[in-house]
Amino acid sequence: MAKYEEAVAKLEEYGQTHVLKYYGELPKEEKEALLQQIEATDLSFIKGALEQGGQAPRGKIEPLGAMELSEIGENKETFRQIGLDAIREGKVAAVLLAGGMGTRLGSDNPKCMYNIGLTKPVYIMQRLIENLQDVVKEAGRTVPLFIMTSEKNHDATVNFMKEMDNFGYDPELIFYFVQDMAPATDYNGKVYMEAKNRIATSPNGNGGWFVSMAKCGVLDKVKELGIEWLNAFAVDNVLQRIADPVFVGATIARNCASGAKVVRKVAKDEKVGAMCLEDGRPSIVEYYDMTEELMDAKNEKGEPAYNFGVIMNYLFRESDLEKIMNDRLPLHVVEKKIPYLDEDGNLVKPEEPNGYKYEQLVLDMIHELDTCLPFEVAREHEFAPIKNKTGVDSVESARELCRQNGIEL
Ligand code: UTP
Repeated sequence: MAKYEEAVAKLEEYGQTHVLKYYGELPKEEKEALLQQIEATDLSFIKGALEQGGQAPRGKIEPLGAMELSEIGENKETFRQIGLDAIREGKVAAVLLAGGMGTRLGSDNPKCMYNIGLTKPVYIMQRLIENLQDVVKEAGRTVPLFIMTSEKNHDATVNFMKEMDNFGYDPELIFYFVQDMAPATDYNGKVYMEAKNRIATSPNGNGGWFVSMAKCGVLDKVKELGIEWLNAFAVDNVLQRIADPVFVGATIARNCASGAKVVRKVAKDEKVGAMCLEDGRPSIVEYYDMTEELMDAKNEKGEPAYNFGVIMNYLFRESDLEKIMNDRLPLHVVEKKIPYLDEDGNLVKPEEPNGYKYEQLVLDMIHELDTCLPFEVAREHEFAPIKNKTGVDSVESARELCRQNGIEL
C-alpha cells in the first residue's frame, strides 16, 4: 500500500496522475509492475525541459577551424603510424551507438538489421563490421567493439548477431550494454501510456552512452583491457571508417581530449551540426540553432565560418570522459511519433509526430571536454547516413554512395 501512496504523491507532484487511470482494473502483478516503473522513472525534468523551449541556453558562438584534408594528406603516414601503434597496443576500442528507434526508417527491427542489399543481403551491421575489419587486418589486432542497445532492441540485436555469426568478428571482443530510457510525453508534458500498466518510454538519446557503460559494468572491461580511446559512432552511416588509424593518430598527435570527424557542408542550411567554439570551448551548433548570421559568417580566408558538419563519429580519451561523467548533459526536446493509449484504452500508432522525447546527445559531450580536433573526411567516401527510406539521407542515397565506392550490394 505504501508503494501505491508514494506513487500517487509522486504523480501529483509532477501533474501525471492519469498514469493510474487503469490501475484499478489491472491484475496484481501488473499493478506491481506499474508502481515499480513509476518509482524508477524520473519525471522531474519534463517541466524544466519544456520551459526552456527544449534548447539548452547557448553561449557565445565563434568559428573553430578543422584539420582539413590538405593538412591531413601532408601528415597522413605519420598519423597512420601513431594510430596503428595505439591500436596494436590495444588502446583503441569502437563504440557502436545502436540504441535508437530508427522511427524514420520505419522498420520494426533494429536499424542494424536493415538489409540494403540489391542482389544479396547486405545488412547495415555487416557494412560496419566490414569497415572495422579493414582496420583489424591492417593493424593485425582485433579492435574491441562495444555495442549500445536499448531495452527495446537489445534481444533482437544480440540474436541477430548470433544468427549472423557476428559477421566474422571475434565474439570474445564484442561487448553489449543497454542504455537508459526516458518517458515520452504529449505536447503539454503529460506522459503517454504505452499500455495500461506502462508509461511510454524511449531510449534517452545517444549522449548517455558513457554513463550507461559504467552503470552496466562494461567500463570495468574497458579498464581491464587497457583501452585509452573510445571511437563512438552512429549505426546508420554505412561508409564511415571506424577506429580509423589516421584519425586516431591525428587526435593523439595534436594532444586533444576528443576528435570529431567532420565533412564540408553542401549547403549553409544542411541539416548537420556544425563545429564551433562556444564560450571559448569546442562545441557543436545544431542545424536548428543556426541563425542566418551564423550561416553567412565568413572566416579570415573568406570561407563560410561554420562549414564543417559532424557525422557522429567521435573519438574520446577515456580518462577525460571519467572526469566529466557526473556532469549533467543538456536535454534536447525532440518531436517524434509516439505510440500511445487513447482515451478508450486502445493503442494508437500515430502517422505524424504527436509529442516529445527527451534526449541527451553525444555532441554535447564534446563541449564538456577542453579540446577537440575537428578532422575533415571526404564526404563522398565516408558519409552515407541512412535515416529515411527514400530521398535525403536514405537507403536510396546510401546505395548510390556505396556503388560509387565500389561496394557490391
Ligand atoms: P538518430 O538521432 O538518427 O535517431 O540516431 P534514431 O532513433 O536512430 O532514428 P529516428 O530519429 O527515430 O528516425 C543517431 C544515432 O544515435 C543512436 C542511433 O542508434 C544512431 O546510431 N541513438 C539514438 C542511440 O544509440 N540512442 C538513442 O537514444 C538515440
